[in-house]
Amino acid sequence: MTALTLSTAGAATLRADAVVVGVAKGAKGPVVAPGAEAVDKAFGGKLAAVLETLGATGAEGEATKVPAPAGLKAPVVLAVGLGAVPDKTDAGDAGDGEYAEETLRRAAGVAARVLAGVKKAAFALPVTAAEDVQAIGEGALLGAYAFTAFQAVPKDAKGPLGEATLLGAKPRDKAHKAAAERAVAVAEEINRARDLVNTPPNELNPASFAAVATAAGKEHGVKVQVLDEKALAKGGFGGILGVGVGSEAPPRLVKLSYTHSKAEKSLAFVGKGITYDSGGISLKPAGHNETMKCDMAGAAAVFAAVVTAARLGLRVNVTGWLALAENMPSGSATRPGDVLRMYSGKTVEVLNTDAEGRLVLADALAKASEETPDAIVDVATLTGAMMMALGSRTFGIMSNDDAFRTELHEIAEEVGEPSWPMPLPADLRKGMDSPTADIANMGERMGGGLVAGLFLKEFVGEGITWAHLDIAGPAFNEAGPFGYTPKGGTGSAIRTLVRLAERTADGDLG
Ligand code: BES
Ligand code: MN
Ligand code: ZN
Repeated sequence: MTALTLSTAGAATLRADAVVVGVAKGAKGPVVAPGAEAVDKAFGGKLAAVLETLGATGAEGEATKVPAPAGLKAPVVLAVGLGAVPDKTDAGDAGDGEYAEETLRRAAGVAARVLAGVKKAAFALPVTAAEDVQAIGEGALLGAYAFTAFQAVPKDAKGPLGEATLLGAKPRDKAHKAAAERAVAVAEEINRARDLVNTPPNELNPASFAAVATAAGKEHGVKVQVLDEKALAKGGFGGILGVGVGSEAPPRLVKLSYTHSKAEKSLAFVGKGITYDSGGISLKPAGHNETMKCDMAGAAAVFAAVVTAARLGLRVNVTGWLALAENMPSGSATRPGDVLRMYSGKTVEVLNTDAEGRLVLADALAKASEETPDAIVDVATLTGAMMMALGSRTFGIMSNDDAFRTELHEIAEEVGEPSWPMPLPADLRKGMDSPTADIANMGERMGGGLVAGLFLKEFVGEGITWAHLDIAGPAFNEAGPFGYTPKGGTGSAIRTLVRLAERTADGDLG
């Protein structure tokens, strides 16, 4: 992976193959952002004018390459757009006249993508605090990501950016060093989750996913326990088994435990891990199943978050539950009309085998509840309805606790992940009434994302604070790359989970 280094060298004197500067949208044209003063000086103070002539406006997502003038060690200058110049008075912005961390993260991501194949790039973007170092570091490492494991003839032979050197960040400053280390841990685990999501479903099944988790757990001091199909049957995990029973590749429930000796709080993360969602007997039509390898993105996010918490040595206990199954139609598959006896003891009438995520999650939520953690958060590519509601970049947050839902929304904002709070209206519950069982796995079509949330709520232990993140939209990017987000698996919700663990460790959580 791309290396991340810090340097106190000047932007003009550092030996690199390219130097990245920021350009913002000013009232009268592009404006060179702080951090690039030395580069602008080498242009005789005319960098903004040069960029404007080349068509640059400073808009977000823009990248403009300029040959470097004499006086710069790097042969190329890459100007990346930062959007509007931050306003000192604008209440909509931070209002402090500084660039938002997410703006820097995205701009660094654009730069890393444009500089694929380049050995070493110096990033002379505006840095005012350690958080900016982390954001730029994350953006560079996430933007440099490419998934080439299944290309015999690499589509992009150039390979990723070799090294990103952040200027304006001080290698001897404790806070800056720690920020860079955090960026590396977070980005490496997000990129590992992206790999898992992008791996085709004939290569990644519940057993091989569990094997990857076991190996990574060993490497980073996370205890890993795997329940195979026999153990699941013995334990009474009717939901996970009912979804996995149609597949040649049997299901797994993986428990990841990270503990800190001085921890005062505990979190449980639960991830939907459908390694392929064909819909089962309620088969999805063509056009709806080509991307369904992404249906384990919740489990990948949980896995990444627990490993990151361990790598950062956070003072909190974090348990991850990966509910892994492949949803396939076959002679042994669960039929619409079957009743499953769930781990919690409740029975579920399966009216639609394509509503499988809530079934595996129900068992994992009930199991996670037994340990009475301070909070449970589940992450799932759960419903097309949530995509209808929020589009493909924003995840929905539902919870049995309004304050916790608000807190998660704030955390997601803080780490640059678009999200929106959604309700769990009690009136939608009756749509899931079943004449045969305690509950059906489907209800009203309208508000389908909330119906799914209400179903999950029934399997959370009494009195436990719980939230549900429906990442069906942002987990998998079917459009072109943007910012630090590649096509395909994105690593959605990982930064939110990690920041929640950080806050909980710091005692900021109720
Ligand atoms: N995995 C899908 C949801 C999904 C759809 C994720 C599109 C990502 C992109 C889920 O298992 C599903 O099929 N949900 C059904 C539920 C319905 C049958 C009640 C849906 O949303 O249509
Ligand atoms: Mn489904
Ligand atoms: Zn699914």
